[in-house]
Amino acid sequence: MPKHVYLQTYGCQMNERDSEEVLGMLVAQGYTPVACEDDADLILLNTCSVRAHAEERAFGKMAALQRLKQARPGVVLGILGCMAKAQREEVFRRLPQVDLVAGPAEIYDLPDLLAQVAQARQGGTGVRLLAVDRPVRPLDRKPPGDWRRDRVTAFVTIMEGCDKKCAYCIVPTTRGQEVSRALPEILDEVQLLARAGYRQVTLLGQNVNSYGKRFPDGGGYRGPAGRRRLLEEADGSDRLIDFPALLRQLDAKTAIERLRFTTSHPFDAHEELFRAMADCRTVCEYLHLPVQSGSDRVLRAMRRGYTVEAYRVKVARLRELVPDIALSTDVIVGFPGESEADFEATCALMEEVAYDSAFLFKYSPRPGTEAAGWLDDVARPVKERRHQVLLALQAGISRRKLERWLGREVEVLVEERNRRGQLAGHTRQNVNAVCAGPDAAIGELIGVHVERVTPTTLIGRLIA
Ligand code: 5AD
Ligand code: SF4
Repeated sequence: MPKHVYLQTYGCQMNERDSEEVLGMLVAQGYTPVACEDDADLILLNTCSVRAHAEERAFGKMAALQRLKQARPGVVLGILGCMAKAQREEVFRRLPQVDLVAGPAEIYDLPDLLAQVAQARQGGTGVRLLAVDRPVRPLDRKPPGDWRRDRVTAFVTIMEGCDKKCAYCIVPTTRGQEVSRALPEILDEVQLLARAGYRQVTLLGQNVNSYGKRFPDGGGYRGPAGRRRLLEEADGSDRLIDFPALLRQLDAKTAIERLRFTTSHPFDAHEELFRAMADCRTVCEYLHLPVQSGSDRVLRAMRRGYTVEAYRVKVARLRELVPDIALSTDVIVGFPGESEADFEATCALMEEVAYDSAFLFKYSPRPGTEAAGWLDDVARPVKERRHQVLLALQAGISRRKLERWLGREVEVLVEERNRRGQLAGHTRQNVNAVCAGPDAAIGELIGVHVERVTPTTLIGRLIA
């Protein structure tokens, strides 16, 4: 019997990659992915817990799917990802038709869990499975199967989990302790992708800058002295394997054209990273460096581990070493205790740094985090106003930053033909760019002369 799976993803790029891994496993088992839940025997939501809003969306969707299941009782419903871990009891209580719930560390158990559900149904008993117990994802036990959404750009997970303790953040709870994938495995995967025709790889991790801190066997640069991992395994050098070293290895030893990475914590972003970015041709001139707040008082309460001044110094050094760098950030407004003066300091920092783009969020308490125990004392209308003020401020800055490309020639990786029939892709600085051109350009790096800008996109002419 053909088996069809529908999978919807919420949340970050890590989650998108996890969904690709899930589909890879299921395709290897004979499933076919479908674009509509009505055609599916297995419906999965890969969920996100980062803000209350993300969770409410997934609960709403799953409630609708439960009704679908009443009409078609044979359907299997599953909740995967961060919500599965953070809201396990809620999920089971509020969604009685859900058959299985598996956290980010348990995704490789999915084939086994599905087999258990099928067996129990055959036996006429039925089960509801809750799998959220592993402390870390067994990265060294990836199952076979590779499935990717795109043909030109690909994600590659290099580490999983987060050892930080930011007061607002649920991720250390949902994704567990940091663990890094072995260097040779990453080199092989990127090289395979390059040979298969991919032009760009985005390296993924909650905090890619601490790549190499801990490998699945306990070795790593923070591990016991005897178990430090040296590059000698790769090239005979006595340097420790860390993130800048990984970038240099990928740049030198694989045929991939463009490397990107996300996310970086400012605390762990050092001069050596900036030097590697400057030296490696393939590493794109773009860094997402979430600052979260422009007030030292708030940064301290958030337990971010840096001051505004320390952040400024890093950005200045980066801009010295990589002059054309584009920067983006995340900012939370309305964190507990954030005063008007704190907020104004954030506005001032945004003006000063002049990010190319910014993701701006209103604080929502996440049960189980440290800050959830504090009074959520910035009133909703105040959060709303601060959010609007920052959005407007950043819109002006983003526009200015885009205009700096007018009249210049940029390198664009063409990812697709868009709905308007234009070639569409991104510049090295991760800016959207479009132009007219032939199908043969799809998947290629092209030169584009920028003639106009919209609020989000460069419009140009293909340089022959
Ligand atoms: N409330 C609002 N925003 C949050 N983020 C993380 N946790 C919260 C929260 N509780 C934001 C941070 C982070 C981004 C992924 O989401 O800015 O960098
Ligand atoms: Fe959402 Fe964070 Fe989990 Fe990504 S890691 S899915 S952003 S909660």
